[in-house]
Order: sequence, then structure tokens, then C-alpha cells
Amino acid sequence: RTFRIAAIPADGVGTEVVAAGRAVLDALAGASHGELAFDWTEFPWGCGHYERTGVMMDEDGLETLKDFDAIYFGAVGWPTVPDHISLWGLRLKICQSFDQWANVRPVHFLPGVVSPLRKADDTELDWVVVRENSEGEYAGLGGRNLSARGPGNEVAVQSALFTEVGSERIIRFAFDLARGRTRRKVSSVTKSNAQQYGMVLWDEVFARVARDYPDVETESVLVDAMSAKFVLRPEDLSVVVASNLHADILSDLGSALAGSLGLATSANLNPERRFPSMFEPVHGSAPDIAGRGLANPIGAIGSAALMLEHFGLADHAARLRKAIETTAGAGVLTPDVGGSATTADVTSAIIDNLAL
Ligand code: NAI
Ligand code: MG
Repeated sequence: RTFRIAAIPADGVGTEVVAAGRAVLDALAGASHGELAFDWTEFPWGCGHYERTGVMMDEDGLETLKDFDAIYFGAVGWPTVPDHISLWGLRLKICQSFDQWANVRPVHFLPGVVSPLRKADDTELDWVVVRENSEGEYAGLGGRNLSARGPGNEVAVQSALFTEVGSERIIRFAFDLARGRTRRKVSSVTKSNAQQYGMVLWDEVFARVARDYPDVETESVLVDAMSAKFVLRPEDLSVVVASNLHADILSDLGSALAGSLGLATSANLNPERRFPSMFEPVHGSAPDIAGRGLANPIGAIGSAALMLEHFGLADHAARLRKAIETTAGAGVLTPDVGGSATTADVTSAIIDNLAL
């Protein structure tokens, strides 16, 4: 089968890691004896496009993307364009318009990578952070200059939106995911002691949904305590479900604990499959290392494995993951994880290891 994929490398290292991911997927397809093929269309959207045209993506961009099987995304953002403009103009626009309400971010140890957490060989790190991806703190509600109080006295309001439907669907998603894992546990994260409306609603929905999954262990933890738990009791977590902001922060923490932000993978899913889902590394455009061949491509390549899974190609996904592990285990690593290999070195080693 041929899968039609829209590639949006966007900015900085996004362009480097998307090229790496495409090369690996094409190699995988090439070795599949015609069983699998990828038909790529690349879109030049991002901060450069904004500077040329005044928009982050074309007017009819969403209409064009709608018909693809998936979107493979790099990272958006560059110091010449304010981040809220670039993020809302491209990545968040796609997530919100295509109702990609579930953001799945697996975190696990890779062989060969030194993690600040790996104190003993038997420490386990195998989590999935499930992020509510359509509302919460990133609903875009609020405004500035609500009252004209004069210079130096501006007021801004940024509200978080929690709906029962939105909370319930992401919490159920987390429970369903937990059922397919060795450790059947869901940890829910809020700050419901301090935020007494939306987060309390979330807690109540969590308790109610949990009753439908008696076979799944549960806990409800405040976000500050959870950030400590990530570091101190990593082996006690399996699926962690949280709001848009909390899960955003916790998943960066999680990937740093695994060794580097450059390793972290993510899927922005529209579980109803009415719109294409989007697969992207968790990291941003990394202007500090962009254009120098230093970017770790594993986050992007691992996100391609999530895309294969989404297509129902579990065997191909497993093969790709194994190639990543073999490569890391052999010490072919970029500088962020202590190696001296380039983006291209890691990519070609992964391609070679696909054949094993
Ligand atoms: P960042 O993720 O780009 O970089 C944070 C740190 O991690 C930097 O030191 C960077 O060198 C390192 N890093 C990131 N990816 C790496 C990789 N693949 N290999 C090796 N090291 C890597 O986050 P930062 O600096 O906060 O943001 C930079 C820009 O990216 C901003 O414009 C921001 O808005 C944007 N951004 C975009 C995201 C997206 O498109 N999904 C997500 C996060 C940030
Ligand atoms: Mg983030």
C-alpha cells in the first residue's frame, strides 16, 4: 500500500530531522518488496515562509492537508518571528483544526544512552505521557488591555478551558492505552487544590471513568508532586494523563530524564480518523545547533515509527525501533547524548541496521 504523507519540516533542525526520517522510511519501504511505499509532498511552510509572504502557511493549507494519510512535522519557530505567532500560525493551527485531541508521548530508556536517572541497571523507565491536545491552558482564551489603565498597568487574562467531553475522551484514551501495556496503571495529573474549577472537573471525570476500568490501577497526583515523582520513583509510572500545559512540561522533563530532548517522540492523533494525524519530535527548532549536522534525529525517526503504528504496520514499526536501539547501543550517537556522530551518521547507521 502507498501512504500519502505531507512533510512539513518548517524551521531550524526541523528540516534536518525530517530529511533523516524521510530517508529512513524510504529505506524501509525499499526493503519491503513492494508491500509498502510512501508518496511524499513537502510543504515549505514555517518562519521563512512567513517572512516572504506574511503567513505561516498558505491560505488553503488546511484544505490541502486534509486529504493526506498523515502529516510528518519537524519543528516550528525562529528567533526572527515571535514564537506565539509561529506556533499558532502553523503547528497549533493544524492540531486544533484537525481535532488532534490526543497527544501521545512515549518515554523510555535507549541502550547506550546515559540518563541522569539510570542509577542502577534495573531502573525502569517506560512511560507514555498522554496530553490533552485541544483545550486546557492552550485553548487560546483571554485577551490583553481589558481595561485602559495606562502605561505600565496593562492587564492580561489567559483562561484555561476544561469541558467534560474533552476531559473524558482523553482520560478514556489513557485507560484504553494502559490496557495494552504490561503495567496497567494510569496516573492523572492536575493542580486541583489551587485551580478549583477546571481541574476539579477533570478529577471528578477521572474518578468516574476509572470505575469502568477496574483492571487498571489508578492514582491522582498534583503536578508539583508528579514532577518530583518522575525523578524519584520512575519505575512506579506507566501511563500519565494530564492537561495540555502540564503534560507539555512533564513530557520535556521525561525526555530529559531519558537522556535528551532530541530522543523524544510524539503523535498528535485524531482518534476518530476524520482528519490526518500528525507525527513530530517533541523538541523545537533548536536555533543554537541548527544547520551544523548536530541534531539528534532519533526523536523524529522514532516519531515515524509511531506513524507506522498508526497505519497498522506494527511489524514495520517494531523493525524501525529495533534499528534505532541497535544504533544507539553501538554508540552511534549525536553530541546531546554524549556521542560524536552527526545527524547523517546516525541516520545511515539506522538505515543499515534495518537490514539486521
Ligand atoms: P528546543 O527544543 O528547540 O531546544 C531546547 C534545547 O534542546 C536546546 O539546547 C537544543 O539544542 C536541544 N535540542 C532540541 N532538539 C534537539 C535535537 N534534535 N538534538 C539535539 N539537541 C536538541 O526548545 P527551545 O529552545 O525552547 O525553542 C526553540 C524554538 O522552537 C522556539 O521558537 C520554540 O517556540 C520552538 N518550539 C517548537 C516546537 C514544535 O514545533 N513542536 C516545540 C518546542 C519549541
Ligand atoms: Mg513542549
